[in-house]
Amino acid sequence: MELNRRTVIAGAAAAGIAATTLGGTAHAAGGRKPAKELFGKLADGTKVYRWSLENGGTRLKVLSWGGVVQSLEIPDRHGRYKNVSLGFDNIEDYVAKTPYFGALIGRYGNRIAKGQFTLDGKSYQLSVNDGVNSLHGGAKGFDKHVWDVEGFTSGSDVGLVLHYTSVDGEMGYPGTLKAKVTYTLTRHGDWRIDYEATTDKATVVNLTSHVYWNLAGEGSGSIYDHELKIAASRYTPVDSGLIPTGELAKVAGTPFDFRHTKTVGADIRVANQQLLYGKGIDHNWVLDKGITAKPEHIATLRDPSSGRTLKIATDQPGLQFYSGNFLDGTLVGTGGHIYRQGDALCLETQHFPDSPNQPKFPSTVLRPGETYRSTTVHSFSA
Ligand code: BGC
Repeated sequence: MELNRRTVIAGAAAAGIAATTLGGTAHAAGGRKPAKELFGKLADGTKVYRWSLENGGTRLKVLSWGGVVQSLEIPDRHGRYKNVSLGFDNIEDYVAKTPYFGALIGRYGNRIAKGQFTLDGKSYQLSVNDGVNSLHGGAKGFDKHVWDVEGFTSGSDVGLVLHYTSVDGEMGYPGTLKAKVTYTLTRHGDWRIDYEATTDKATVVNLTSHVYWNLAGEGSGSIYDHELKIAASRYTPVDSGLIPTGELAKVAGTPFDFRHTKTVGADIRVANQQLLYGKGIDHNWVLDKGITAKPEHIATLRDPSSGRTLKIATDQPGLQFYSGNFLDGTLVGTGGHIYRQGDALCLETQHFPDSPNQPKFPSTVLRPGETYRSTTVHSFSA
């Protein structure tokens, strides 16, 4: 990230701008408190705020609605900033139309088959919102609630703490789940997410973030030229409803082999049953490192045209890579452009989909007295 900061300052100098206006070094010393403004109102009058943060050359805008990353700006190799995350410029579209743009996902990231699972001999029926399955927490998941948000500065870091309490039985899940998510922008410009949750009854939990990345800038076209590397030798094949079959299949010899850097589009049109099921890539990678005590680097995404590079580190065992297959030209994004299939991709660090029904997958059960914790760090450079 030293490289990133130097690039930013060099770019600023070339453009005749004082480096301090770019935020990174200025905020590293001062740690300016994040600021909020009114973004819009829900139909019932509830106010939705937008928080602005900047540190180490990264600029982040976050909504109290769903903890949504509404905008994430980073510089290219010449210090030119672009928003690299898909989103909307108004609250109405977030409420009515969003395919989880930038949102926090809970209680359970990705699918649970038929919205059903059994825990300690008790069966639960969840909200079903994706054919016969439950997706991203059901019809009204964590992305569709207003979170309590507070800004903070801590040393050279700036950030937000977001709280949401999901009541016992919400969307069919047992237990009152208290979720706390911390977004931190470090002085190096890294965006770190720390998730925490506690419950008062045994339940399942799998939190993640649903940013749609396009490192050339949102609305600039497809991500098929982006280069990607994922540290995973296996993935979880799915059935026609995108539920894992339970197999941990080798990526070797398949379009899912990203162990060596290749472009996202390289094999996306290969005739392959798994790609047909997902209308492209919509699969979970089994990270070689497994569950780790600390975040470890697992994926690198790079846009060759701008040089913008995203590195992801996580302590989680899985990575859902979704190539924006269901974007269908019906949404107008932040910059006024229509989003089409493949205009962005998601890299969601998490436990594997449908784990509550898959005894061989790492457990997602959380019990009273335990604290669910998960951390993912996004590092940027150019
Ligand atoms: C899922 C996709 C789904 C998308 C919704 C992804 O996490 O894997 O299947 O369509 O979220 O935007």
